[in-house]
Amino acid sequence: QEQSYKEKYRPQFHFSPSEKWMNDPNGLVYHDGIYHLFYQYYPDDIVWGPMHWGHAVSKDMVHWEHKPIALYPDEHGLIFSGSAVVDINNTSGFAENGEVPLVAIFTYHLMEGEKAGRNDFQTQGIAFSLDNGDTWTKYEGNPVIGNEGIKDFRDPKVFWHQDSQNWIMALVAGDHAKFYSSKNLKEWKYISDFGKNQGAHGGVWECPDLFPLEVEGLEEEKWVLIISINPGAPNGGSGTQYFIGDFDGKQFNSDQKEPKWLDYGTDNYAGVTYNNVPSGDRIFIGWMSNWDYARNTPTEKWRSAMTLPRKLSLKKHGEEYWLVNTPLDQVETLAKSELIGEMLVEEGASKEMEIEGLNQSKVELKTSSRDFTLLFKNDLDESLELTLNAKDSVFVLDRTKSGKVDFQSEFGNKKHHMPISIEEKSNYEMKILLDWSSIEIFLNGGLYSMTEQIFPSEPYNTLIIENRDGQEKIELKPIQHMETIW
Ligand code: FRU
Repeated sequence: QEQSYKEKYRPQFHFSPSEKWMNDPNGLVYHDGIYHLFYQYYPDDIVWGPMHWGHAVSKDMVHWEHKPIALYPDEHGLIFSGSAVVDINNTSGFAENGEVPLVAIFTYHLMEGEKAGRNDFQTQGIAFSLDNGDTWTKYEGNPVIGNEGIKDFRDPKVFWHQDSQNWIMALVAGDHAKFYSSKNLKEWKYISDFGKNQGAHGGVWECPDLFPLEVEGLEEEKWVLIISINPGAPNGGSGTQYFIGDFDGKQFNSDQKEPKWLDYGTDNYAGVTYNNVPSGDRIFIGWMSNWDYARNTPTEKWRSAMTLPRKLSLKKHGEEYWLVNTPLDQVETLAKSELIGEMLVEEGASKEMEIEGLNQSKVELKTSSRDFTLLFKNDLDESLELTLNAKDSVFVLDRTKSGKVDFQSEFGNKKHHMPISIEEKSNYEMKILLDWSSIEIFLNGGLYSMTEQIFPSEPYNTLIIENRDGQEKIELKPIQHMETIW
């Protein structure tokens, strides 16, 4: 199914389905030159419905090719979120002629069980592919993990744990995470729980991910547990929290009591990371929407998009660890060479702004001003306002007048705040990636990020930068559609 990049609101450099409903990214895995992106998909409507795994592939995570649906519902239920691994040593025994199996691990959701008011309607199943993701076979022994009555028991993330020579699965169970281990991906042993009394609990826990990261500049490794939560995010509805701790192959421990948030925007949910990336980088993709209003956003042919792929890293400030996220270098390189020029606003001691070129899709800004506003506008007087107020240690995103906002009150009823708690520089540096229907903001190298959907009735064509000392007006180039560029 081909898509046109000229359709109203169609993302130009973010992944979106050619048509119909999409939610969480699933089965993020690299194998043999290909990055796979599976996703929660309902092929018959533009609202959520019986879930399948849609599928796309890419060599660079910027240009995606749509593939046929990978997994269909079956007698065990709908296919909810999960992950995929490369079973290099054929521990599963699925390969009979020396192939390398890709194994998908997902949640089965049995509608009938849920409707009957039972709690055991979610179980875990697996499927394998021997042709690098083109065709899939469900395991005949499914489900591989049954359910003895745990409500909201889902979203398995599996990875190979070198030290213990085990497959490890992180899974959510309502208000906490559960861990399992396996030698062959078919038989699973429960090993531990985490989180009942830690972090945010304003809603159900979903889509866990567990992985190690080196702390930047230190010879130290920490484990990161990502947990999506809905509702209960800092600016309403769905959001992504994380815990920093240690994992010994059996138990994840963290002394962190308060929640930390991966993104303060309203539209970065259910994000997880890739298995088997050759560079060793930890690459994250999230669903750029929010359950508060996902079903009602004003697109007609498809619904929602993924965030840009982002590299995660860890920084230590004092005794605290921070998860940092920044768009991938190759996204930026491609963005620079293929899409757009670049704008740099430098504000020196004289507080004069210098502007060097500009484009619609990427704005870079360096400033020593601790108090400034960026206003993206169109001729209809719709505007998106970003304000840094260092005095009050807060960054504010205001999309209340950004365009179409009235499709649901939760979308446009308030400003969104991001606390700026670490003052590591006197200069602020900001990177903004603006697509037709989204904005991603990375402040101070991704220490702070905000991701939001926007639906301007016409693309913004002016950017006004204001600080206490004056105003600078910049004309934005009209959207350059991918058809004419790629
Ligand atoms: C998160 C989620 C998952 C579930 C899937 C169903 O957005 O609710 O927990 O597996 O969506 O589509």
